[in-house]
Amino acid sequence: MTSTPEPTVTELGLPDRVPLAGLPRSVRIHEVGPRDGLQNEQTALPVEVKAEFITRLAAAGLRTIESASFVHPKWVPQLADAEQLFPLVAGLREQYPGLRLPVLVPNERGLDRALAHHATEVAVFASATETFARRNLNRTVAESLEMFEPVVHRALSAGAQVRGYLSMCFGDPWEGPVPVSKVVEVGRALLDLGCTELSLGDTIGTGTPGQVAALLTAFGAAGVGPERLAVHFHDTYGQALANTLTALQCGVTVVDASAGGLGGCPYAKSATGNLATEDLVWMLQGLGIETGVDLEALSATSAWLAGRLGRPSPSRAVRALRA
Ligand code: HMG
Ligand code: MG
Repeated sequence: MTSTPEPTVTELGLPDRVPLAGLPRSVRIHEVGPRDGLQNEQTALPVEVKAEFITRLAAAGLRTIESASFVHPKWVPQLADAEQLFPLVAGLREQYPGLRLPVLVPNERGLDRALAHHATEVAVFASATETFARRNLNRTVAESLEMFEPVVHRALSAGAQVRGYLSMCFGDPWEGPVPVSKVVEVGRALLDLGCTELSLGDTIGTGTPGQVAALLTAFGAAGVGPERLAVHFHDTYGQALANTLTALQCGVTVVDASAGGLGGCPYAKSATGNLATEDLVWMLQGLGIETGVDLEALSATSAWLAGRLGRPSPSRAVRALRA
């Protein structure tokens, strides 16, 4: 008797598509690997490797790729080469129409640097808690918002889109639980400054789905619907995919993720990698939700980058697909 060998996961390649009611038809993935992913690595990669990483992500179908940080080079030395990197990748916007390459800017000095390199999309980043605001930006929450005000206004006047990040939305390693009312207050303040999108960060990955639904409901009650929101989950406690599914059920359609599951924050040591883009794409493809991403090309990119970083990718999907 001949038995048919079981196909390996690699041969399967893609999940069965079985939709679930109440979910969006498509999701825009905001890829943060080159920024959030690389800012936490022990060693800075050569600028050419970073440029190849971004190029491969674009070729894999990602259309929003956060590519650099114009922060103080001493605060995040891993990304101190933004001036060298951005010109190497900016041309991809012609090659891939609709490609967005946002960059992080904390202040006017950062904005000047970004605009000098023709960035068309920037992100400011606030904290819902005082301790992290102090550690990450050397300012109180109120002082950080004051710092962002001219950045947002000048960026919008220059025709750039402005994302607002809000960290520590679901818990803070120094302060513990963070009141939902505080998160909504600072999030609203960022939107009132003129930010075109607000990304809610679970910086240390402690949040669970009930918290996600409660926070999104509270934003809704404050007049901020899911069309203005994105979610940014770190996967420290393995909750990122469950939290993402909950956010999708609440109407969010922009999800931040990092190729290969790299990531963290040098100023919050308990933050580990972001939700891996491959894990996200596997789930979304299974649900029949469009992302435009080629999972094979993406996981090959993460496996290649893991080789350059000298350690395996933390993404479960990458490990299964490249086994
Ligand atoms: P500071 O020391 O208070 O800076 O740092 P300052 O405003 O007092 O200026 C001091 C000097 O730095 C001045 O130079 C400035 O020109 C210079 P001097 O006049 O003394 O010669 N300077 C700069 N140089 C280059 N580029 C700049 C810049 N700004 C000032 N942009 C600062 C304040 C905000 C600059 C600093 O705290 C900083 O750079 N922080 C960045 C921290 C960071 O990047 N963290 C990681 C990203 S956030 C994150 O990962 C969370 C997220 O993923 C969401 C989540 O997971 O929750 C987004
Ligand atoms: Mg982050």
